[in-house]
Amino acid sequence: MRSCLILLMAFVPIFTFAQDEFLYGTFPDGFMWGAATAAYQVEGGWDADGKGESIWDRMVHSDPGSILNQDTGDIAADSYHKYAEDVAALKETGVDFYRFSLSWSRLLPTGRVDVVNEAGVAFYNALIDALLANGVQPMVTLYHWDLPQPLEDQGGWLNETLIVPAFAEYAAFAFEAFGDRVKLWLTLNEPWVQAVMGYGNGGNAPRVVGSGITDYLSGLNQLKAHAEAWHVYNEQFRPTQAGQCAITLDVVWMEPKTQLALDIEAAERSLQFKLGWFAHPIFSLEGDYPASMKEAVARHSAEEGYPESRLPEMGEEWRLRILGTSDFFGLNHYTTSLVEHSVWPGTGTSFDRDQDTTQSADPAWPESSLGWLKVVPWGFRKALNWIKSEYGDVPVWITENGYADLGELQDLDRISFYRAYIDEVLKAVVLDGCNVVGYTAWSILDNFEWTQGYSQKFGLYQVDFNDPSRPRTRKESAIAYAQIISDNGFPQP
Ligand code: GAL
Repeated sequence: MRSCLILLMAFVPIFTFAQDEFLYGTFPDGFMWGAATAAYQVEGGWDADGKGESIWDRMVHSDPGSILNQDTGDIAADSYHKYAEDVAALKETGVDFYRFSLSWSRLLPTGRVDVVNEAGVAFYNALIDALLANGVQPMVTLYHWDLPQPLEDQGGWLNETLIVPAFAEYAAFAFEAFGDRVKLWLTLNEPWVQAVMGYGNGGNAPRVVGSGITDYLSGLNQLKAHAEAWHVYNEQFRPTQAGQCAITLDVVWMEPKTQLALDIEAAERSLQFKLGWFAHPIFSLEGDYPASMKEAVARHSAEEGYPESRLPEMGEEWRLRILGTSDFFGLNHYTTSLVEHSVWPGTGTSFDRDQDTTQSADPAWPESSLGWLKVVPWGFRKALNWIKSEYGDVPVWITENGYADLGELQDLDRISFYRAYIDEVLKAVVLDGCNVVGYTAWSILDNFEWTQGYSQKFGLYQVDFNDPSRPRTRKESAIAYAQIISDNGFPQP
């Protein structure tokens, strides 16, 4: 198998997009390799055995046109029934850990702990036990965008007095049920996306529109809920369970379009609006939102006639309560944008306008099948260095990175992507001293890519969504990733 792979690699058209030479070398001993999924994207069983409705169930059923080809996650990859095959794929790939999320509605159909769905508890117990029996550690995300609909009916992430205690209570429930075996916890996945698309531009569930207002409000409530969950773990569970609890944030690397001071500043501001919004309150020394973000939103709010900044104040008590609430830095990364300074014409309130920037892509960058996902490996190394310079030596777990195509089994472009991106992580670790301790491929298998439905494939394993038995087939990229894992990087050929 190995010699076939080496032969195959010889034909993979790699590195034409690297900024510098490929680096041969290996990661430090103990570096952790994983693969990821999220509940709504793979499980199916949307109302099986007492599961409650989530905001994604509601969106796909009430407005089928909101998803490409009217796809739904009703069955998805059917991992609710076929999890043993997922575990077999993970084992075959040789990963150290599997990042998956719990469906809050499968465990607590009302969203609160008054009703527990024992079938849901049994499902996750079986998955966790199967992973451990196969030498794969579970890394569990509590919330990957699938809020129980009954909580959304009461305002969801906009209702602080509801959502902050509800999330803390759900987290305690999960730590209690699974924390004897789960030692790596993630509270929220990509709060930026949940805020901007779920509660800002209406692109994702629950499709609230209120850009420049409700996105910021849901963002603050997510920070508060995350912090409360971390404190629950830290105080009530860490002493006996001895695991780690963190948040996962997404970054697009923001490259200045020119070397003009205004554009360099604009790119920096964009990074603060993207990553700093959630990272600064948690990982910086002083907490609170980044200064440039506070200044920009306050100035725009005043210009638009608001009596105060649309970015809600964190307040002193919450600033301190949120600060330092992550045991490591979970990072999702896919792509890079070019950023230039630009003041938007016209009037109106929006999150994008607040930033005074325009983003674009270099037409020379290779594309994936998703418009937003350009292949720019060097942005990864820059992002990791930026995190180090902003937040110091906090351990970074890359919790997602991957490539979209239309589903080939001979997915040579995905192999190129992984090799080039992982090599930039290697450079960040070996040459720049970035403290990256783990890497996660998105995804172990093809799945429901949100509003793109099943049109976009990210899997190392193909899933045939036209076949009721949802068979999994290993792709070439799974073989290549397995090789990278067993080599712990790229030893000199
Ligand atoms: C992330 C998200 C994943 C996955 C991926 C690819 O933002 O957390 O669920 O869909 O993007 O688009």
